[in-house]
Parts: sequence; C-alpha cells; structure tokens
Amino acid sequence: MVINVSRPQIVVEPPGPKAKEWIEKDKQLLSTSLTRTAPLVPAETWYVWVKDVDGNIYLDFGSGIAVVNVGHRHPKVVEAIKKTVDILDHTNSCDFYHYLQVMYAERITKLTPGNFRKRVFFGNSGTEAVECALKAVKWHARTRPYIIGFVPGFHGRTMGSLSFTTTKLTARRGFFPMMPGAVHVPFPNTYRPPFKGIKEDEVVEAVLSYIEDYLFKYVVPPDEVAAVLIEPILGAGGVVVAPDEFLQKLYKITREHGIYFIADEVQTGFARTGKMWAIEYSGVVPDVMTVSKAIANGLPMGVCITRAELLEWDPDCHENTLGANPIVVSAALAVLDVIEEERLADNAAKMGAYLMKRLRELQDKYDPIGDVRGRGLMIGVEFVKDRRTKEPYVKFRNIVIEEAFKRGLIILGAGISALRIQPPLVIKEEHIDIAIEIMDQALKAAMERCK
Ligand SMILES: Cc1ncc(COP(=O)(O)O)c(C=O)c1O
Repeated sequence: MVINVSRPQIVVEPPGPKAKEWIEKDKQLLSTSLTRTAPLVPAETWYVWVKDVDGNIYLDFGSGIAVVNVGHRHPKVVEAIKKTVDILDHTNSCDFYHYLQVMYAERITKLTPGNFRKRVFFGNSGTEAVECALKAVKWHARTRPYIIGFVPGFHGRTMGSLSFTTTKLTARRGFFPMMPGAVHVPFPNTYRPPFKGIKEDEVVEAVLSYIEDYLFKYVVPPDEVAAVLIEPILGAGGVVVAPDEFLQKLYKITREHGIYFIADEVQTGFARTGKMWAIEYSGVVPDVMTVSKAIANGLPMGVCITRAELLEWDPDCHENTLGANPIVVSAALAVLDVIEEERLADNAAKMGAYLMKRLRELQDKYDPIGDVRGRGLMIGVEFVKDRRTKEPYVKFRNIVIEEAFKRGLIILGAGISALRIQPPLVIKEEHIDIAIEIMDQALKAAMERCK
C-alpha cells in the first residue's frame, strides 16, 4: 500500500493508545538491552514515510539505521522478493549450490574496488560479515595474532567484532575477555583531536605516529599484525569522516608490513556517501570489505568480500545455515539494479550537499550546533555546550530528537552528543526542506527547555 502524503501527519501525540499497548507488552517480553530512541511502533512503510499503529505519519531521516537506501518497500525490491517467494524458499547454501548467490557474487566483486580476483562469503548481518573478515585474516596470517581497530569504532556485538566495538563502555562492560589480540588506536577525529593539545591539522600525523613510533616500537611488532579494521566514516561513533590522507598513509603502512586492510562499509556502503563505497574517496583499495545494512533494503544479509586468497581455506572452517537465502539475495540484486538505474550515488551527493548547506544555516542560528559534517547522505550534527571548549551537550541532542519526533521527523543519535542524519537516498529537496523546518522548531524547543 502506498502512503500518499507530502508532509508528516501527527494525528495523536505519540505514543498513541495503540502504540502504548504494544510498548507495555514489549517492556515485559523483550530484552532490556535494546536502546529505544522514540516510542515508534510502525504499522506501514512506504518510500520516505513510516506510519505508526495510531495513524501518525513520519518522515524517515534514519532509514532504519542506514538500511532502506532505495526507500521503504521500493517496488522493484518488493517485486523481486515476490517473484522468488513464489518459486523458492530455503535449501541451504553450504551443502548445495545456488545461482542467485553466484549472480550476486559476480556483481559485488565487480562493484568493489580492486582489479584482483575476489571471493565472497554470505552471512545474515553486519557482525557476521566482520566475523568472517576477522576469521579469514586470522586463518591466513597465523603467526600474526594482532588486529588493530580504531576508537570509537563500531563493528558489531558478537565476541569477535565486539572486541573492536568501542563506541560505549556499556557495549563492552561485563563481556571481557573477548577475542585476544585486539589492539586499539584512536580514530583520527579532526573535530575532537584524540590527543590533548594538538590542532585539527595535526591529527593525521599524530595518530600515524602513535602507530609507528609507539605501538610498533614498544607494544606490537608490526610483523605480528594480521590486519587493520577501520570504518572510512565512523557510524555509531558519531559520523566522523576519516581524512583521506589518513587512510592513504595507513594503507601505505599496511603495505610496508604485509598487513591486510579491512574496510568496514557496513554502514557507509551502497551509495550512502555519494559514492558506492566511502573508501573510494581515498583511493585506497582494501583487501577485505564488509557490507550489510542497506544490502537488501532491510532483509537480513551481510557479506564479506576479499582478495580471493583470503577465502581459500579449508572446507567446513567457516559456514552458516541461513546465509544467502534466495529471497534475500534476490532483494539484494534488485537493490543493486535500483542504485544503478536511479543513479542513487549521484542523488546522495547532490541531496547531501543541499542538506549540509541547510544544516549549516541552522548552525549559524543555534550556538549548540558545534559541527556539521559527513559525506553524501551520511551526515553528523554534533551539539556542544560551548563552541570553544566543545563540551558535549547530550541533553540538548536528546531533546532535539524527541521534539523532532513529536513533529513527525525520525532522526537518530550517534556518538556522545551527535545526530546521525541518514535519509533514504531517494529523497528530494522538498523532503529536506520539511526536515529542516521541523529541526528548526525542535532546536527552538530545545533552546527553551535548556534555558
Ligand atoms: C560499521 C558497522 N559494522 C558492523 C555493524 C554491525 O552490523 P549488525 O548490527 O548488522 O550486526 C554495524 C552496525 O551498526 C556498523 O555500523
């Protein structure tokens, strides 16, 4: 069913009576580890709209955490799913073969950077894609027990990927020990330099020097490092772009020491940043890429793409039951078609530039907006109590999310005090104008409430 509106419509203050009922039951039944941003209980979705069980219609600038890149229930994706469901369900892709899986592997290996031969492993989530990457580099680099990750990175919540997830202590507390050999290095955040006293333009060299002059000299022999694992743009960590120069120099270090470079594009992938992959901005060609989230527009799938040699290992050393389900893979193939046919990378770049310009206008108006940053339609807005000290303004950020939601705009938080603005890549200027109008009101309300 199509949701035919041109603006959000709030008919009852959320949570409405039906939403309240479900939320009450949810509170009794579901894991309390789930962090809830707003009392949203969706009933229908379409394009850029989400309708809740009480009839409220929201403009979705979260995309289910950067998932519905081609828009909710894109007709081509729905058609592909229906077609497959009518003829195929599950047979299992470890014991038997599957043509859709092969078709997808053919396409994704051509679409990812690098002219070398590649192989693909199919799982069901981002964390599984990362687990596969970690296991593949470990299996091949047996005399190299260390893997370097960046803080605050997010790579998933299973024990291997969790070893490199450092966005919040709550994600890690109580779970030690995780995978041994995880080494943590500060992410090159130019807005908040990781070392006290250094300037924005000194961040790249400072972090590289930490690796080369400290880590590699005193802590971890570089010839014992199997891989580096990095998000080209921090997602959950607050939408922080790694400077291209940093990625290029880090890559050079990996080449010097025979270290694999793993780019985690679970959040940045599938045209989100204005290019198919965020790593393309730097020109770095990773040995391994992990992708998921937008891959099948909401159906569970996560894929690890590597230099062929890395997925040439012993039969049975890595498999799963549900990976490469035909219905899910047919949706993923349709997603690739839509991204190409509708030139969504270009639209993300164009709309992203417009959205960034409009957000900077809000920054001129509201002092608590310390920084607006990002690439394409992966944008972070960070709130501070004081633009000079950059003290995080968590309360203000949370109120902005709440007030925007009350007015029909879905936005998510990230990092300590940032918003993560990630609408579907099919949005138009008119949707951005509505979002900015609502954010303006939400910011005004937050200024009042924080007086
Ligand atoms: C960069 C990155 N890697 C891995 C993951 C884990 O993905 P999933 O939640 O599907 O396990 C996420 C999830 O947010 C992510 O952003």
